[in-house]
Amino acid sequence: MLGSVTQQKLRWFDAFAVAFLLLFHWTQMLVHAIQLDVKDKESIKQAASTMAFDLVTFYQGNQSGQIPGYLPQPYYWWEAGAMFGTLVNYWYLTGDSSYNDITTQALLFQATSNGDFMPTNQTRDEGNDDQSFWALSAMMAAERNFPAPPAGSPSWLEMVQAVFNEQVTRWNTASCGGGLKWQIFPFNNGYDYRNSIANGCFFDIAARLARYTGNQSYADWAEKAWNWVTEVGLVGSTYQVYDGTSDTNNCTTLDHVLWTYNSGIFLHGAATMYSFTNGSSVWEERINGLLNASAIFFSTNASSLNVMYEYSCELINDCTTDQFSFKAYLSRWMAETTQLAPFTNETIMTKLEASAAAAAKQCVGGSTGTYCGMKWTTGTYDGTTGVGQQMSALETVQGLLMPQAQAPLTNATGGTSKSNPDAGMGSSSNTYTPSEVAGRITTGDRVGAGFITVALVLSVFGCAYVMVS
Ligand SMILES: *[C@@H]1O[C@H](CO)[C@@H](O)[C@H](O)[C@H]1NC(C)=O
Ligand SMILES: *[C@@H]1O[C@H](CO)[C@@H](O)[C@H](O)[C@H]1NC(C)=O
Ligand SMILES: *[C@@H]1O[C@H](CO)[C@@H](O)[C@H](O)[C@H]1NC(C)=O
Ligand SMILES: *[C@@H]1O[C@H](CO)[C@@H](O)[C@H](O)[C@H]1NC(C)=O
Repeated sequence: MLGSVTQQKLRWFDAFAVAFLLLFHWTQMLVHAIQLDVKDKESIKQAASTMAFDLVTFYQGNQSGQIPGYLPQPYYWWEAGAMFGTLVNYWYLTGDSSYNDITTQALLFQATSNGDFMPTNQTRDEGNDDQSFWALSAMMAAERNFPAPPAGSPSWLEMVQAVFNEQVTRWNTASCGGGLKWQIFPFNNGYDYRNSIANGCFFDIAARLARYTGNQSYADWAEKAWNWVTEVGLVGSTYQVYDGTSDTNNCTTLDHVLWTYNSGIFLHGAATMYSFTNGSSVWEERINGLLNASAIFFSTNASSLNVMYEYSCELINDCTTDQFSFKAYLSRWMAETTQLAPFTNETIMTKLEASAAAAAKQCVGGSTGTYCGMKWTTGTYDGTTGVGQQMSALETVQGLLMPQAQAPLTNATGGTSKSNPDAGMGSSSNTYTPSEVAGRITTGDRVGAGFITVALVLSVFGCAYVMVS
């Protein structure tokens, strides 16, 4: 047993140790919380650089033995596609090319030689929106003259054209008078669902191809998609964007849940059409409508005025992995809207500045002490980390640089990505019949199971051999 004096000393020691650790932790937080002056370009770049660094720590796809373009569980394939768009944007806005190589590698690998983002590993449960999120990242690469893929690979623009051409063949008039279904193949859950994000992405891609190439055929499709979503009410009379509707009742009822990214994609598509039409008043009115309706995603409390939040899940702590990332896209698309439709600048920047300041303030998490959480309105870190949280904070912060940056390029203003209007036409991955896809996957699974059996048998023999000798 220890003497009482020693015990006393130990207690003091413990108390000091605890106090020291607390103080250390506290100063760490002070040192590491991301500093941001929303009016200062260098400060914005510095904050973005810290956030991008932490974001990329979630990705190992460029390491040997890993698959380029994949994020680990629990992230779905589409979110990785979105992340590389965030990194294209990061390079364009800050000039920091640190992540260009992993971005090019991932986009090319998942585009495959068809260039249509329908890799065999994904087709079984790939939705139109999944395919589009990768295509949107390729579109950004084209519009920002991101370094072109090596000769022999499809160009950034060609990838988007391939996806567009395939989605045109999926425009479905069997019910609802048109529109895209959520899923590509009938054997997947959700094949009956017609959602805003799938149709919004198609609308935005069509508008951007029109603006980039100057080809009116794409604009006609953008108009057609817009008319359809307003006819069935996915974009309502007050410009709220509802999540989806269904084939099962001929699109007569709506799922009314509101997500930031649904509003964002239609805002961006409308702004692109506004730019393409040299400022038509029809598109101006739609932009204003969508922007007003999106006010629901910004706090009206005095203590967090204009700070973005995910209206349908954040306050009740019910956001899923996917939903943690949605604010990234609303931020990205609002920021780009200021370039395409500059009259929105003041309205949008007021909201993005408040959101960026609040986002940076709570980035005190994780091993670096700078990882960001989901909740920006509370003023304190919520204890979560993830790709979605990280991307959302980064897009909001780097978006502050958008109004001063060069607008998205077109073929006429220096964009150099090569056009191929026939890309993806008759691509094998798009024309598989459901039974062919099902058959292919079953074969794959069997091959996998067979491989494991062989490996087990071999290792049993191996062990036996070692034991005998
Ligand atoms: C993967 O990318 C990261 C971030 O750019 C980089 O630090 C790392 O060295 C890369 N690893 C390999 C094996 O290329
Ligand atoms: C598909 O999965 C296999 C097996 O994991 C992998 O080797 C391959 O690189 C993947 N292909 C793509 C395009 O992700
Ligand atoms: C314009 O786009 C349409 C639709 O993809 C395509 O068929 C046509 O060839 C394009 N025209 C030019 C001049 O690129
Ligand atoms: C794009 O611009 C280049 C150079 O101005 C021109 O030669 C080419 O025909 C244009 N392509 C399209 C599809 O408009």
